[in-house]
Amino acid sequence: MQEDTKDAGIIAAAQRVEHYEIAAYGTVRTWADLLGRDDDANLLEETLEEEKETDQKLTQLAENINVQAEQDAGAGSRSGTQSGSRVESGSRRTTARKKPAA
Ligand SMILES: [Fe+2]
Repeated sequence: MQEDTKDAGIIAAAQRVEHYEIAAYGTVRTWADLLGRDDDANLLEETLEEEKETDQKLTQLAENINVQAEQDAGAGSRSGTQSGSRVESGSRRTTARKKPAA
């Protein structure tokens, strides 16, 4: 496995963690709001924004790494997209989606 493909996998895993954290912090921030715990809600909101920023940084990293990983996969024995060789991460698709066989 090429280094860029490994990096793409690591970034994808890190983004799953960030999304989990975003859901958790968003939920407890809302609960703190509802309970009138303003200081806690403010701190949780601050943490939530940090998690979102991290997710955006990972998406930016993934945009380049995913293309590199796809090119590494393409440098092997194929001329087109094969199942399992396309790497996606983050909220944007970086390569054309293969049309499923009819
Ligand atoms: Fe995080």
